[in-house]
Amino acid sequence: MSLPRTVDWQGDAASGRLVIIEQTLLPAELKLIELTELDPVIDAISRLAVRGAPALGVAGGYGAVIALRSGLGDAGLERLADARPTAVNLRWAVERVKRVAEGDPERALAEARAIDAEDVRTCRAIGEHGAALIENNMGVLTHCNAGALATGGMGTALAPMYVAHEQGRAFHVYSDETRPLLQGSRLTSFELAENGIDVTVIADSMAAVLMQKGKVDLVITGADRIASNGDAANKIGTYGVAVLAKAHDIPFYIAAPKSTFDASLEAGHMIPIEERNGHELRFVGETRTAPDRARVFNPAFDVTPAGLISGWITEDGILKAEEIAAWLG
Ligand code: MRU
Repeated sequence: MSLPRTVDWQGDAASGRLVIIEQTLLPAELKLIELTELDPVIDAISRLAVRGAPALGVAGGYGAVIALRSGLGDAGLERLADARPTAVNLRWAVERVKRVAEGDPERALAEARAIDAEDVRTCRAIGEHGAALIENNMGVLTHCNAGALATGGMGTALAPMYVAHEQGRAFHVYSDETRPLLQGSRLTSFELAENGIDVTVIADSMAAVLMQKGKVDLVITGADRIASNGDAANKIGTYGVAVLAKAHDIPFYIAAPKSTFDASLEAGHMIPIEERNGHELRFVGETRTAPDRARVFNPAFDVTPAGLISGWITEDGILKAEEIAAWLG
């Protein structure tokens, strides 16, 4: 991958720092920021400077090191795990580091590094399995950003594209711009273009006509949390894309690691959905696009029912709905 790591740790547990790409500035500016205190870590997660379910897991693991070395204990870890509610990877990683570390920042760092390294391997495995779906000359549509900028590795939904590209296949990616925060146009098109993959940005409302014209052969998106029946929460708008794919008989796949599955939830309606500030819809950058007196509905995610999903691309292969429960154990 041609970009710096999305999330990284430099130094030892006592004085080291969490280093992240400041994603709110992309694609205009590629800037790394260093975080050494818990509140700036929570702030970076809340304002989407670091985002995407697996990247939130990796950042959460390193954030837990900072919480423990600062003596903030369980209350600090809880605030960190709560910084964003939908992506289960964040709480999963914080709780995993807490359990293993037993208060020791050195052990916490070793566990956080293990989560990071696992994510790199997992992304690669998702890519290897999913690449088989991508044939020469296909049009592949994705929504939001589930690439290197959303993980510790090469991504989830974008990983099959990177591996198919490595394997020499030529295909075209359509990236939904992904209102309201434009992760598709700002991040997905940026990282695909940086890595030499052909990409066209479309407004979310253009996916239907592209499908009608026969330009889309395959849809792959990521997920923030998947219930044990396969219902998948992902960036707002994903459900609409899945409905469109069904209407046009186009396969729709979710790519996600096991850490994104929540075996404790039977179905998607149980997944907590983050609602974000109305400011994100009332403004585009500095420009006002809706008055304060208008109410705003701004859920960050929606849930795609398992019945609309052709398969779940995981590190262990491409699963069918009926295989998920046994795989989760
Ligand atoms: O609000 P975001 O940008 O964190 O939303 C991210 C997504 O919805 C991604 O598709 C998902 O987390 C998978 S990332 C590999």
